[in-house]
Amino acid sequence: MADFDRFMQELKAKNDIVDVIGSYVALDRKGGNHWACCPFHHERTPSFAVNQSEQFYHCFGCGESGDVVKFVKEIESTDFMGAVRILAARAKMEVPESNLDTEESIRKKKKRDAMAAILLDTARFYRANLFSGDERADAHLQYIADRKMLPSTVKQFGIGASLDYRELAEYLAGKGYRKEDILDSGVLIESKNGRLIDAQAERLIFPIINNMDEVIGFGGRFLGKTDFAKYKNTKETMLFNKRNTLYNVNLLKKLKREQPISSVIVVEGYMDTISLYQAGFKNAVASMGTSLTKEQARLIKRYTENVYISYDGDFAGQKADLRGLEILDGEHLKVLVVPMPDGLDPDDVAKQGAEAYQKCLDAAMPLVDYKLHAIERKYDLSRTDGKRAFVKEALQIVSGTDSSAVREDLLKKLRDKTGLTYQSLERDLENLRKENKADAADTVGANVKIAEVARGSDKTEKAERFILAAKLFGADYAKNVSIEKLHFENSVHARIAAYITVCEAEGARIRPAELFEIFDENCPAFNEILDLNYEDKLAGEVAKRFFTDSVATLERESIDREIALLQEELAKTDEQSRRVEILSSLQDALRRQKKRR
Ligand code: UTP
Ligand code: MN
Repeated sequence: MADFDRFMQELKAKNDIVDVIGSYVALDRKGGNHWACCPFHHERTPSFAVNQSEQFYHCFGCGESGDVVKFVKEIESTDFMGAVRILAARAKMEVPESNLDTEESIRKKKKRDAMAAILLDTARFYRANLFSGDERADAHLQYIADRKMLPSTVKQFGIGASLDYRELAEYLAGKGYRKEDILDSGVLIESKNGRLIDAQAERLIFPIINNMDEVIGFGGRFLGKTDFAKYKNTKETMLFNKRNTLYNVNLLKKLKREQPISSVIVVEGYMDTISLYQAGFKNAVASMGTSLTKEQARLIKRYTENVYISYDGDFAGQKADLRGLEILDGEHLKVLVVPMPDGLDPDDVAKQGAEAYQKCLDAAMPLVDYKLHAIERKYDLSRTDGKRAFVKEALQIVSGTDSSAVREDLLKKLRDKTGLTYQSLERDLENLRKENKADAADTVGANVKIAEVARGSDKTEKAERFILAAKLFGADYAKNVSIEKLHFENSVHARIAAYITVCEAEGARIRPAELFEIFDENCPAFNEILDLNYEDKLAGEVAKRFFTDSVATLERESIDREIALLQEELAKTDEQSRRVEILSSLQDALRRQKKRR
């Protein structure tokens, strides 16, 4: 371990970040930083900064940041060790393969590499099948033609064909792969009598590729007419996890380098994605049938905050999918729902032409409006009972919105749809809200408490963040203040605090770039700390005062915690001598608490 740390230190020392990044993009020195147009998103004026003294980069436009290893990893679409190898070659250093890591992680890494190689070869095999001239591929080619996929699209998405049950097994064995690795990759399955057969036998193949351009799995479409398992996906493996994956994220990443991405369109299926892409909507990705996950929402957030949800025309009634959409709200994405003609999916509409789909996009609406739009179709508004049932359900949706402006707007829409007066709708809404409130009455007390705690913890987060940023970036006023005794609530913050404490104890220099080894991926809590430095929030009198206040906040909280613990212990203790001790500590803590208020 220590050997590897030393190796990494030397690797970074010999690969100055300005030299390395400068070999990919033209850097322009201005002020303390070097600037360029960001290689990770499209832009015309530079907002990508490289800081030589701290050895890291940060883009104000898209938020990408990291050290030299992370940069190479991203720009070369490789993993950590891939980047290390590139940098080692550049510095003419030997990578100490054997001491790199624990045996367990070496084994895992080897496994992963073997599986990735198998998946890539399998994708090549399927693709070659499609164009082999073999007559068994005629059905696949016919299917492609029927679904109006152009040859260029077929190529771009790497579409292929499985022609039978057995050939893939022979092909992979011929390449020398181990049976165990092949089975783990999910491309073959073992039949009852021990034979290895193609998991996607005879299907049309859609490779699923991640944002590092690795094939991680396949979707295979049955060519005949069926609704039963018309698609079969690779089983969950070390590489393929549907929850973490969006179909077409690889081409989206490529697109981001070529042009600004102002929004992402989320569809359900492979064919929806492909048809939209072909019609010029290259920003489409598919959640692959499942309702959206948090992981997918975060993946989207790396590209844009504007999301169009473009599900099949019949999804309105499926509650699960609407719940999925609330996840997007939770990640602070701006969501519009695209209405589809009944019974059609984006693939069907895109086939009618780009204009037809553009019209749907233009009609996209916020989630509440969409919900109203969706329930409207369930009722016959020309009948009194239909109208009444509709209004009842609609008002329930309206009452769930926080903004009074939005509520007013929705009431007006309801008035126009139903012909009822605004006043009567408003009165009904008011009554409904009172009813809902009464229902929730017993939980209100609890909710207030939760809100208070949330506010308190927001303040704590800010204080923690500021203290760490000031320490990390060497603000004068922070130098002689020890943070060893402070308690950091947020786990990322606690990790950073531990790093700082160790550095100070050993008299080592605090280097923010070293933290990129720990918080490798997009870690929001870490990025927020970096932002404080880049946004120049750490210098000046105000900053100094905020730092002092922040330390006081955390100290006050630690006294509060101490008191709570002592009181708890006191309640449980009967032994007299111990009680005296506790009481005296408690008195002392209360005195300190009073002094601080
Ligand atoms: P749909 O049932 O909407 O199919 O499933 P589709 O995309 O319109 O398919 P086509 O147009 O008939 O070819 C949407 C997505 O759900 C997943 C697939 O990712 C599919 O694209 N799915 C669906 C499965 O994984 N398995 C299935 O059996 C069905
Ligand atoms: Mn379809």
